[in-house]
Amino acid sequence: MLTGVGTSALCGLLPPTLAAAGSAGDGLGARAAAKGLKFGASFSTEELNKPYADRYAAIYAEDCRVLTSELEFKMYTLRPTADVLDFAPADKLLAVAEKDQQTVRGHTLVWNDALPDWVHRLGPGEVEHLLEAHIETVMERYRGRVTSWDVVNEPIGPWDKLPGNLRKGPYYSTFGESYIAKSFVIARKADPKAELVLNEAQTESDDDNGATFRSSLLGLLKRLKDSGAPIDTVGLQSHIDTARPYDFARFADFVREIVALGYGVAITELDVNDRALDSTPNLRDAAVAKIYKNFLAAVLPIREIKTLTLWQLADHTSWLWYDAVAKGNPGGRLPRPLLYDASFKKKSAWYAVAEALDAMPAR
Ligand code: XIL
Repeated sequence: MLTGVGTSALCGLLPPTLAAAGSAGDGLGARAAAKGLKFGASFSTEELNKPYADRYAAIYAEDCRVLTSELEFKMYTLRPTADVLDFAPADKLLAVAEKDQQTVRGHTLVWNDALPDWVHRLGPGEVEHLLEAHIETVMERYRGRVTSWDVVNEPIGPWDKLPGNLRKGPYYSTFGESYIAKSFVIARKADPKAELVLNEAQTESDDDNGATFRSSLLGLLKRLKDSGAPIDTVGLQSHIDTARPYDFARFADFVREIVALGYGVAITELDVNDRALDSTPNLRDAAVAKIYKNFLAAVLPIREIKTLTLWQLADHTSWLWYDAVAKGNPGGRLPRPLLYDASFKKKSAWYAVAEALDAMPAR
């Protein structure tokens, strides 16, 4: 039933057969799997400490065939100090996924962000040792259990004004651009069967920023191809922001350019920041649903996209929600970027995604 959702806003969006959906077999993961697409979302074990933990776990069990670690594999979680390796949160995530027969995407091994302070104080030789030891130790521990890794996250950062528009940080300072290829070589050796992903942000918008990210990423991917770096898949985060302009057909052309270079593509962190939508919650939900619908209609026909993951499933567990709360909710309203509302009710966006999955061609 559509209680709590503005049904009038759903005209033309919601096929009658979907209105009664709700059992596990109708979940998004099952719908996607029927077409050969793996569907899931980021999962945070910190949410399991909340009073709503059971309902949180239940929507993932219903909708997800793959979980991406939101925090558990970030360097600041795994290595809070130089001599500690804390696998407890990651082990907890694996236990949830294995109970519900979901695969896991490990996010992320090498990122010039989410680093504990002590890493910034290392000398070049120590950074080299850390890069190798970290990838090997973490991947070998979860070999065969974490089947896809974001080996390198967000290598592009035009604001740092480095050659190739690469992002600065300890790895770049130590190796230059070659830290990227090197990371993938180490990763392939640590688990030859895992899918190795280079994940990037901000390529989606149809503005100067998006254009810079797209051309910089394409340039990097060409150089990596030439160098023989063992990269299987390019992850495009797809944090859609209503404050920016979009042309999803042009974005799909960009995805096809990546495919033409010989890479697979995954949509890895989809959500819709509704900050520029100025209306009631029901109307905002309808507009967000339409953005999901249009985005997926443009990209899901590309059969090389084999994985689609959102960044969380419910509004109140989104990084955008936490960010708004941390800032004292300056807009006077909380974000509604995802498929379930803060009471775990399906929103119109859930139905838009279900419809897009049902309509897409099989892989
Ligand atoms: C975000 C998490 O959602 C937050 O909880 C955390 O505080 C910061 O990181 N791109 C990424 C993710 O690759 O790792 C980010 O996740 C969101 C943007």
